[in-house]
Amino acid sequence: MTAKTMDDLVSLCKRRGFIFQSGEIYGGLQGMYDYGPLGVELKNNLKSAWWSSMVYENDNIEGLDASILSNPTVLKYSGHEDTFSDPMVDCKSCNSRFRADQLDKNICPNCGSEDLTEPRPFNLMFKTNVGPISDGSSFAYLRPETAQQIFTNFKNVVDSSSKTLPFGIAQIGKAFRNEITPRNFIFRVREFEQMELEFFVRPGTDEDWHKEWVKKRLHWWEQQGVPKDNIELYDVPDDELAHYSKGTIDIMYKFPHGLEELEGIANRTDFDLGSHTKNQDELNISAKVMPNNNSNTRLAIQDIDSKKWVVPYVIEPSAGVDRGVLAIMNEAYNVEDLGEGKERIVLKLKPHLSPIKAAVIPLKKNNAELVNKASDLKKRLQSLNIGRVVLENTGNIGKGYRRHDEIGTPLCITIDFESLEDNTATVRDRDTMKQERVSIDALPDYLIKCINE
Ligand code: GAP
Repeated sequence: MTAKTMDDLVSLCKRRGFIFQSGEIYGGLQGMYDYGPLGVELKNNLKSAWWSSMVYENDNIEGLDASILSNPTVLKYSGHEDTFSDPMVDCKSCNSRFRADQLDKNICPNCGSEDLTEPRPFNLMFKTNVGPISDGSSFAYLRPETAQQIFTNFKNVVDSSSKTLPFGIAQIGKAFRNEITPRNFIFRVREFEQMELEFFVRPGTDEDWHKEWVKKRLHWWEQQGVPKDNIELYDVPDDELAHYSKGTIDIMYKFPHGLEELEGIANRTDFDLGSHTKNQDELNISAKVMPNNNSNTRLAIQDIDSKKWVVPYVIEPSAGVDRGVLAIMNEAYNVEDLGEGKERIVLKLKPHLSPIKAAVIPLKKNNAELVNKASDLKKRLQSLNIGRVVLENTGNIGKGYRRHDEIGTPLCITIDFESLEDNTATVRDRDTMKQERVSIDALPDYLIKCINE
């Protein structure tokens, strides 16, 4: 069962410390959220699953962590200064502003007036001042996608890691968009994180690689607990394509508020490297790019066989971390009927994503022998380096189980008086609620097996 409503998720996220409205004590800041103690663990686990699947499992993919503040020249040649905008309309009655393409008919959703302005482009990039003088002469953009710094570092990575085609550069990091109408919790926000791969291929092989990456990404989402049944692929029509794209397949997920984009996989052709390169005329660039006399570097690679300089095509799987967290929470959220009017909320996260991997619970909170044994076990399990393990010393086992069900902890391990005699503990499985007696010495392997399943 998936979440009934977005409100169920928002409420769980706040109650249990996953996600909070940013600056809430001062009324909040629209389109910004903060990840709390459990949210940061879940988010880090998701990012690390992506990083492993990209960088560690593929010797032809390298990582990058580039700056967020971007030289405006980069975003001029990337085309973002001219085209990265949404159509905006104003309501002349109540002065609210909306995205024209999201309006139901031409009616103001705030006051019902039909007296709206004509749509006009609104650039989504945030600007900030760089240095001590704020007269507008020296500014930077907060990057609207992580991708551009991958393109501008293309030669640095090729030269330092001796890559040949096909190869990729992966990056996870913040991106910023001044969305006209941020909404639906963490789905559309103004500050978010992206996990982006730019995969450089020989021109002519791009369409096969595009298909290949769509397959790989669907499989990866399934491994994170987002099944194909709740996904649809959207082949973006030509008139909706981003300025750099020859073809984009969006992975659309059934979010609580409707079917929307979780990840986009674009064929960016040689547009970006071609735009940022010097000597454009000497290279065989197929995309329509702006003439560039500012770049001091040739962003091309020498073909091993022909020795000709080639501007590679780029396949770009680009996923939103926050949308990933939302999809994963939605899939994991279950309300189970326990009979007699009782129910439990259980977050059936894949164990590798769970914020807490195991809770060790002494049966009595004031019994030093039980607490010491539980504490030793916590330290032993924590040293496995598989994520967070907690000592839950509240003295209320039932409450402990309920809390850990709701936050998705796969195993609760209780240390009781029998444990002191025979060195065993009771292990309770989150999903089945079944309990079994396991030797404490076998618990490290037991937990590792559970996390890796
Ligand atoms: N580099 C390509 C790119 O940025 P995009 O489709 O604009 O393409 C990629 O964004 C992904 O980033 C989206 O699929 C989505 O998951 C996420 N994303 C985009 N805008 C977002 C926003 N305002 N809030 C949260 N996530 C967003």
